[in-house]
Amino acid sequence: MSVLKIVKYGDPVLRKKAQIVTEITDDVKRLVKDMFDTMYASKGVGLAAPQVGISLQICVVDVLPDGKNRPFVLINPKIISGEDKIEQEEGCLSFPKIYEKVRRYNKINIEYTDINGGVNTAEVEGFLAKAFQHETDHLNGKVFIDYLPDWKRKLVEKEVRRRKKAKNW
Ligand code: CO
Repeated sequence: MSVLKIVKYGDPVLRKKAQIVTEITDDVKRLVKDMFDTMYASKGVGLAAPQVGISLQICVVDVLPDGKNRPFVLINPKIISGEDKIEQEEGCLSFPKIYEKVRRYNKINIEYTDINGGVNTAEVEGFLAKAFQHETDHLNGKVFIDYLPDWKRKLVEKEVRRRKKAKNW
């Protein structure tokens, strides 16, 4: 078990478009395992490779439906379509203790490669759909505060600067 260091907002890797995974190598499998270890250890429900400093299109998600594990590995994911936008509070392991309301689709169609290299499409809704959208965004250099109105995003950025100065970020 390896728990990796999570990169916080402000690190340029979170703003880069991550590279497509062309082959599921042993290194990729090891990274996925470490990402699950890291996500569970941090009590998160999703983690994208750029959040551990690796600019590859891989994310892991487990929203623990009914308190039981239901892990997903999404490689090169693409949101194909979405419907029913709803606003809900969310957070991010790269933004400790910051929670904001974000509007996202409640239902999506997603295409992704799984850990065995198979290409899947899935229709998911609710919390899982929200997590898939949040993590897919990370692979495109996008973070959840990008959805906030300007004034609100600036307040969050100010708070981040304050915490960085206090060495609390
Ligand atoms: Co996040």
